[in-house]
Amino acid sequence: RTVAVVLAGGVGQRVGLNTPKQLIKIAGKAIIEHTLALFNGAPEIDEIIVLMTPGFTEEVERIVARNGFGKVSKILEGGASRPDTTWRALRALGAQECDVLLHDAVRPLLEPRIITECVEALKVYSAVDVAIPSSDTVVVAAPGPRGEIVRDIPERSRLRRGQTPQCFRLSVIREAYERAFADPDFDKRPPTDDCGVVLRYLPDVPIYIVPGSEHNMKVTHPVDVFIADKLFQLAAGSAPAHSPLALRRAMEGRTMVVFGGS
Ligand code: CTP
Repeated sequence: RTVAVVLAGGVGQRVGLNTPKQLIKIAGKAIIEHTLALFNGAPEIDEIIVLMTPGFTEEVERIVARNGFGKVSKILEGGASRPDTTWRALRALGAQECDVLLHDAVRPLLEPRIITECVEALKVYSAVDVAIPSSDTVVVAAPGPRGEIVRDIPERSRLRRGQTPQCFRLSVIREAYERAFADPDFDKRPPTDDCGVVLRYLPDVPIYIVPGSEHNMKVTHPVDVFIADKLFQLAAGSAPAHSPLALRRAMEGRTMVVFGGS
């Protein structure tokens, strides 16, 4: 049995609106609506649970009812931090054994290929991450005399940017979180994602990497709303949105207008 957990408990402070960013409409639908449609339509997924910002669960109930997302079994309130939200999801899943795919609600452009590869990988590994190469050089900063200075520049070819879903045997991620919440230092330096919790508290568990996609972006800043909207328009065109052909057509004005003009 495979359960998708849609993490939507955040407020979207960096986007800066009064409503959580997962309710912003892009390409005519709320961001979370795109994300739920994806999992509801995935043959590998049996059940979906949603953790939503406190005070906004009714919006999700309406979206689920309107679209007939029959795989959604629970809509719960998220916690104060992302790890708290994950922990609430794990508690809601109870003692059963199953596979879980934890996905950021604000990554609405996830490709079905990634879901398929994650579910396949879970037949061999009990922890699976999704990541892409870093196109930027990543520098490690440290406090300097006036501002920050560069402490280190790790070799770029070894660096990957983590995405979601992050996927686990339920017993493995539960064990990692039980150890995390028993650690008095956890809150001082919380990992930023669920694979980080497994890496820190169950270091012997290998975490397999499924190649992610540049499109599987996280809507984080206001500019990302525009980029995601354009990517949806591109995806609706005739060529795959990641292909040079799609870009050429877009620039010729045959699919959409990308860089201004008409
Ligand atoms: N998330 C969550 N519960 C929280 C915080 C975040 O479920 N308490 C979810 C968000 O809703 C989002 C995903 O985790 O789908 C990725 O987090 P992020 O982009 O940081 O979202 P926000 O916390 O909403 O953004 P911000 O930090 O700008 O407030």
